[in-house]
Amino acid sequence: MRIVQVPLGQRSYSIKVGGGLLARLGADCARLKLGRRCAVITDSNVGRHYAKAALKSLAAAGFQPVLITVPAGEKSKCLSVVEKCCDQLAKHRLERKSFIVALGGGVVGDLAGFVAATYLRGIPFVQVPTTLLAQVDSSVGGKTGVNLKAGKNLVGAFYQPQLVLCDLDTLKTLPRREYVSGLAEVIKYGVIYDAALFARLERDLPKLLRRETASLAAVIARCCEIKAEVVGQDETESGVRAILNFGHTIGHAIENSSGYGKFLHGEAIAIGQVAAAKLSQQILGLPAGEVERIEQLFVRAGLPVKIKLGSALRKKLFAAMLLDKKVSDGEVKFVLAEKIGRVRFGCKVGMAAVNGVI
Ligand code: NAD
Ligand code: GLY
Repeated sequence: MRIVQVPLGQRSYSIKVGGGLLARLGADCARLKLGRRCAVITDSNVGRHYAKAALKSLAAAGFQPVLITVPAGEKSKCLSVVEKCCDQLAKHRLERKSFIVALGGGVVGDLAGFVAATYLRGIPFVQVPTTLLAQVDSSVGGKTGVNLKAGKNLVGAFYQPQLVLCDLDTLKTLPRREYVSGLAEVIKYGVIYDAALFARLERDLPKLLRRETASLAAVIARCCEIKAEVVGQDETESGVRAILNFGHTIGHAIENSSGYGKFLHGEAIAIGQVAAAKLSQQILGLPAGEVERIEQLFVRAGLPVKIKLGSALRKKLFAAMLLDKKVSDGEVKFVLAEKIGRVRFGCKVGMAAVNGVI
């Protein structure tokens, strides 16, 4: 097992990466000195596979867990589901020392984290991410929240978990499309921070596509280390944390304008990262050979790198980009790469240049 620390003073916590961790959930929670009552929040797909093991492990360690299952999918990331979860917590008399276990992908993690942040003005929570995307990204760093009709993640809180358990065994049941989508975030870490990781991904991609445990453990732990370092420097995204949004300005606009669900998050940000690499070539002189390497890695992973845009969809996409949280004073700011492994954030890019790369 590998352990990564997230250095946030009193809010510091560990991320454990390895096999068989779900069976040790109860023992790990016992070390955190929390109350006996807890709620496992999961979704209908994940619950089917893993709720029993989570409840068993918690009960064996002396906890009294209740299970809250929400429908699988992005639609559960909304205020009405937050209310339903809180009603359940109140019904089962969870109190200030009680805790929540978020068992699932990014949807469950964001939702359950937000419930934990707000119920009784905040109770502890533990992340047990079960998608590749959640293991390398959403479970770490404390962004929690839900969507409004007006857009994604518009209501939320920075609220750090007490512990993150990335059980690699849970990835075995993840549908291939979801797994490959998570690889887009993995590749992002190589581009923004670590040229050696990028080279390793180029070399080990076949092993990762086969979900080989040793490769996965090393790569997931490295991604978590990078995220921990970045979040440790800038917890609330007033500066450097923005680099984690490489490819996301266009990616979020693609998700939003094409109707959520058509593109998975990783698919949309793969297209966004390739577009951002092309902008980087024009604006920061990223060498053409590196743009090609970035594009090729996404292609080899089985991710899309282009989107077909009719004029109506193109218009919608640009309107969505201007609604992004990263827009200030009407200007869209991009994260652009100087070279693989080093990026700059806050780069103002004109709409004509963006239009030229998608
Ligand atoms: P998800 O949570 O919807 O999971 C994808 C699908 O896989 C779901 O149908 C789920 O039920 C299923 N699933 C999950 N784990 C499984 C497993 N082990 N076996 C079988 N099926 C499994 O999607 P996601 O890609 O994990 O997360 C996307 C969400 O994460 C979005 O809402 C996005 O906004 C959010 N996000 C948050 C952050 C953050 O920093 N908080 C970062 C990136 C993304
Ligand atoms: N996923 C981007 C962040 O956590 O900041």
